[in-house]
Amino acid sequence: MSQVDRSKPLTRNTHLIHWVEKIAALTEPSAIHWVDGSQDEYDRLCREMVAAGTLTRLDETRWPGCFYARSDPGDVARVEDRTFICSLSRDAAGPMNNWEDPFVMRRRLKTLFRGAMRGRTMYVLPFSMGPIDSPMSHLGVELTDSPYVVVNMRIMARIGLPVFAEIDRDEKRVVPCVHSVGRPIAAGDRDVPWPCNPEKYIVHFPETREIWSYGSGYGGNALLGKKCFGLRIASNLARDNGWMAEHMLILGVERPDGEKTYITAAFPSACGKTNFAMLVPPPAFKGWKVWTVGDDIAWLRPDAVGQLRAINPEAGFFGVAPGTSAATNPNAMATLASNTIFTNVALTPDGGVWWEGMTDEPPAECLDWRGQRWTPEIGRTTGATAAHPNSRFTAPAAQCPTIDPAWEDPDGVPVSAIVFGGRRASTLPLVYQAFNWSAGVYTGATMGSETTAAATGAVGRVRRDPMAMRPFCGYHMGDYFRHWIAMQRALSVTPRVFHVNWFRKDESGAFLWPGFGENMRVLEWIVDRVHGRAQARETPIGWTPYYEDLEWRGLDFPRERFEALQAVDREAWRREVLDHEALFIDLHNRLPKEMVYERELLICRL
Ligand code: GTP
Ligand code: SPV
Ligand code: MN
Repeated sequence: MSQVDRSKPLTRNTHLIHWVEKIAALTEPSAIHWVDGSQDEYDRLCREMVAAGTLTRLDETRWPGCFYARSDPGDVARVEDRTFICSLSRDAAGPMNNWEDPFVMRRRLKTLFRGAMRGRTMYVLPFSMGPIDSPMSHLGVELTDSPYVVVNMRIMARIGLPVFAEIDRDEKRVVPCVHSVGRPIAAGDRDVPWPCNPEKYIVHFPETREIWSYGSGYGGNALLGKKCFGLRIASNLARDNGWMAEHMLILGVERPDGEKTYITAAFPSACGKTNFAMLVPPPAFKGWKVWTVGDDIAWLRPDAVGQLRAINPEAGFFGVAPGTSAATNPNAMATLASNTIFTNVALTPDGGVWWEGMTDEPPAECLDWRGQRWTPEIGRTTGATAAHPNSRFTAPAAQCPTIDPAWEDPDGVPVSAIVFGGRRASTLPLVYQAFNWSAGVYTGATMGSETTAAATGAVGRVRRDPMAMRPFCGYHMGDYFRHWIAMQRALSVTPRVFHVNWFRKDESGAFLWPGFGENMRVLEWIVDRVHGRAQARETPIGWTPYYEDLEWRGLDFPRERFEALQAVDREAWRREVLDHEALFIDLHNRLPKEMVYERELLICRL
């Protein structure tokens, strides 16, 4: 039994206590629970959710400490069209964000949140994005009526008493976050396993650094430390204070001789960050090791000598389940083997979980993500998948076998290269290196990628997704490009910039590149370029490797196939550049002139 009385404030900060009282008066919860972050509290919340039908405990011998959740079928992914940046002026949010007048939005939120938590407990959840002792970290407090959010946030961030202590220690500024699933329980009413509301609002006030989220309990809509704070609010903090908040993984490559190179990579949602961050080098790369620092968000800051350094502000992985297997990502499989919460995967009759791609053979039968009986036969005839394409695992980063020894270093790790990458069936080669920093910023700024199931809406449509930040930049994208350009002045050495595409297809629609562990061959070239060891050919778009420059031992990959993978098709690039132009027209009033010059140079070279 814990000694903590969780119904009483766990802080001395009077601002925080008053704010909690104010939000409680508005939302009218039946109880207030101050989250201490203990294991005892976590276990108790999980037990309560099992009793309520929100969670199912998995088989304790095969899946120790693991739980299973099924969401409402209408609440399965981020809702980009319901996500708002409510800056004082519309122009400050820019054309890639939904904007609403902050005064109008505040009035609407007041109405939505009035009585929204009736019949529920309001949890006061303090969290730190980044290690608590890091000068690069930032604090938030999320008021939520979802215990599912509390237990997920305990995996994804540092939460509880140490964070309250930090708030009390020096009256640190915290980002206030208010979250409700938007489904009050009327007297005599029964709750549902996954409460939510068809009407959803994911709202950010960048000037006052506030977040309000209504109607969803899923992922980035509800775990407010992640995309809402870690990227949308943090991108504003970062621009104002000379750092960067990016949708990037962080990894370290160790050579057999001990040389270690850290790189970050920005790929859009469900485009391979988790897999790249946990890459296992193929057998030919004996003695090489890839270390994982983070799989989704990087906060980057130049240090006193102008070296860019990165921290992972998160403490867990909220990873895409489908496609994750012992063959594609054994490190993820080891990470999620215990103490993990699975959402919207399939439940097997023996109390385990399954998803498409986890094993070659599907189970003979299971319950799908909607709770309906599913068999391979049903899958074949109806086309229904057992797991939702955006089903996820929430797993502690510390359980990752390749977690980097420095992953919680308060000063972060030094970054030598930045990799951009999209999901592109054509046009974009496997890898190229930008000529310099401004060309690199152009490469990231004009990135395109096919949409995925990580957000609601059409899947497979190519759209511009600058730096993989289209859904996550909390201000005008043109200003964001300017901030990237300006960062060079704070750096003594700029990271080398690359672009990769694991997803190019041949005429029959098959991937040209095997991907996953084989991406090590590309990664080695990147590391060697960083250290001035690898050759490259100059092409109109940048430096590309010759066939001879990649390690091919252990992979039968003919030269012709490599040429197809690396081809820079001038006709296709003409169309590509026209798409760049369309993006620039949208952003023109705040587009830095460097982007226009880079585009002109690219056209000249083409
Ligand atoms: P978010 O968590 O949404 O930000 O996604 P992410 O960028 O971390 O993507 P993740 O690594 O989870 O990969 C998403 C999907 O792409 C999974 O189904 C993977 O199996 C697949 N994938 C990842 N890497 C590769 C690759 O190198 N080649 C191919 N063909 N597929 C890949
Ligand atoms: C993404 O969509 O990029 C994710 C998942 O990482 S979510 O946390 O839902 O944003
Ligand atoms: Mn992501």
